[in-house]
Amino acid sequence: MLILGIETSCDETAASVVKNGKDVLSSIVSSSLRYHKRFGGVIPEIATRHHVENIDKVVFRSLKSAGLTIRDIDVIAVTQGPGLVGALLAGISCAKSMAYALDVPLLAVDHLKAHVYASLMRRDPPCFPFIGLVISGGHTRLSLVNGFDDFVILGDTLDDAIGEAYDKVAKILKLGYPGGPIIDRLAKKGNPEAIKFTCRSVNGTLDFSFSGIKTAVLYHTRAKGFCRQSVKDVAASFQEAVLKVVAANSLKAVEKYRLKALVIGGGVSANSRFREMITKDGATRGIKAYFPSIGLCSDNAVMVAGLGYHLYKKGCNVSLDITAVP
Ligand code: KG4
Ligand code: ZN
Repeated sequence: MLILGIETSCDETAASVVKNGKDVLSSIVSSSLRYHKRFGGVIPEIATRHHVENIDKVVFRSLKSAGLTIRDIDVIAVTQGPGLVGALLAGISCAKSMAYALDVPLLAVDHLKAHVYASLMRRDPPCFPFIGLVISGGHTRLSLVNGFDDFVILGDTLDDAIGEAYDKVAKILKLGYPGGPIIDRLAKKGNPEAIKFTCRSVNGTLDFSFSGIKTAVLYHTRAKGFCRQSVKDVAASFQEAVLKVVAANSLKAVEKYRLKALVIGGGVSANSRFREMITKDGATRGIKAYFPSIGLCSDNAVMVAGLGYHLYKKGCNVSLDITAVP
């Protein structure tokens, strides 16, 4: 079964062809990141315009790269949400038009479930149930995952997402955008114990809050200023505090449900310190952490086409009147 996946929830225009949910025949991503950099964050209208202007080219490049023509596609899977409404509509309109013209089934994919699925595209995926953790620019969510499409939310961020906190802290430190990869790199040269930033789970629940630590970084830098070394120390201390709470809540969730696997996805799952921390802390408690390959951490259409296969097998086709769920 050849599935064409389309992803346009944020600033990446992506298309991919995946065979039977796991063989990746092509993956094309055209990012509008360079146009957002000077604003320090994604501007929805710019992202949407980029999708509208590029989606046809990206789709045809993905078919060409897979050595296929449009007539070879069996099913079309598209991200329905969550994401920026205009951005999502660009991908959904394209997917609907193609499904109608080609007379093939259409599937609506949840972006967060797709991020978790990216970690299952490996030779030895864990069995259901497991705990899923999505850490991205828009979400910080822990779920009990009973099946490809069966997620029970256990914990969420009450304010900023973790990736957003990384991006805002990088902006305060004048490091550029997106902040996650820059802080990841700088933190390696800083002292994570230099500054005592606090970041706790909310009232002992599995929920998260990251707006307080962002403000703490702002006040700290206002009071102390920053030089080359102190930026590295702030980056390392901020990162250690936020990742510790994400790791603690995630392992707590796995133990609460007496499970053994934690499956992680989203842009922040590329973070080198988090990979090291959760792998080590998990191992001491008999818990295995699963990460996507680095190329599948940030937004892509492989995870959409891949999850689409399992939705199709379950008979989850949707009609052409679906719309975005922002
Ligand atoms: O999943 P993603 O590409 O888009 C959303 O669905 O939000 O995630 C983007 C987020 C950005 O906030 C970016 O700063 C963060 O992922 N990110 C990282 C790293 N690479 C990307 N955060 C921490 N460490 C990284 N290495
Ligand atoms: Zn994402």
